[in-house]
Amino acid sequence: MTADRLVDPEAVDGRDPALRPRSLAEYVGQTAITANLRVYIRAAMQRGEALDHVLLAGPPGLGKTSLAYLLATELGVELRTASGPTLERGGDLAAILTSMGEREVLFIDEIHRMPRAVEEVLYPAMEDFEIDVVLGSGPGAQSVKLPVPRFTLVGATTRAGMLSSPLRARFGIQSTFDFYRPEELAEILRGSARRLALPLAEDASEELARRARGTPRIANRLLRRVRDFAEVDGDGRITLDVVQSALARLDVDGLGLDRLDRRILEAIAIKFDGGPVGLDTIAAAIGESADTIEDASEPFLIQQGFLMRTPRGRVITSRGRRHLGLPDPVEASGQETLL
Ligand SMILES: Nc1ncnc2c1ncn2[C@@H]1O[C@H](COP(=O)(O)OP(=O)(O)O)[C@@H](O)[C@H]1O
Ligand SMILES: [Mg+2]
Repeated sequence: MTADRLVDPEAVDGRDPALRPRSLAEYVGQTAITANLRVYIRAAMQRGEALDHVLLAGPPGLGKTSLAYLLATELGVELRTASGPTLERGGDLAAILTSMGEREVLFIDEIHRMPRAVEEVLYPAMEDFEIDVVLGSGPGAQSVKLPVPRFTLVGATTRAGMLSSPLRARFGIQSTFDFYRPEELAEILRGSARRLALPLAEDASEELARRARGTPRIANRLLRRVRDFAEVDGDGRITLDVVQSALARLDVDGLGLDRLDRRILEAIAIKFDGGPVGLDTIAAAIGESADTIEDASEPFLIQQGFLMRTPRGRVITSRGRRHLGLPDPVEASGQETLL
């Protein structure tokens, strides 16, 4: 299940902080995003202002949290963290905001899961740097405006589409993350190997990079697992051979798809005749949550051209079929008419 999924980009790896980039210079890739942010950071600092609010959107494991931390580092300010689901009441957010310093960064992870009432507190805070506080209760209750410091909100989300439009509109800077290219992942892997003092061969890092689903977190996780095989079955050196046999044992295929990815594609192709089929139906068929499928598997399958989202549901592409070793439906029906 999900918890055991080796390439699960959402799983929290307790050791991940060790491999977090410590400066923007160490942050590999996403150059379109980081180049612009460098400009906005400098401009804000030159004016002595808080950086405009930043929304970071994209699939899990692509470096949103890492970048949020780096923004605060580059700005030279404190970072406060919260997450959408743990902010239960408006007061929770008000307490954080009123205790912050000027120009500090508030990072709210999974911001699409923030309750409505908290959002209501956030709007005036983001826009006018004030919050509405209700004093007393009943007919005598009074609403007063309380100033909060000029802060920068950095929101991260795997589902930009689930954000309400008024919330979205209040982010002056909106960055959408792309999957990383294999060369970028290879660079990240070389950096991780250096930090962990692992002997990683060049062709081995390239192979890992090709099979990491475009995701740094997965690249680092595969590296740790492959290291275990190298140390137990070999002499500790991570060679191409070790990578290939380890990934075969871990059931990660040549393009980085794992069992969950293949089960989704197989369900659509075989149980549902290629689709279109609704997400919830797929979820029920393979015993996995719709959220996990939508957050952690689908974006990559779509990016690879294996699956399509249509208004009537999910459809497997002929490329997806070929990857599973299934015949194209067109060819198959052609053969039937020949018989
Ligand atoms: N651009 C990057 N350069 C180097 N390592 C990265 C980069 N992005 C992510 N990582 C690695 O991947 C891990 C997961 O990234 P994280 O920021 O937690 O992703 P997200 O918040 O988008 O789920 C980080 O701890 C780090 O080791
Ligand atoms: Mg994160």
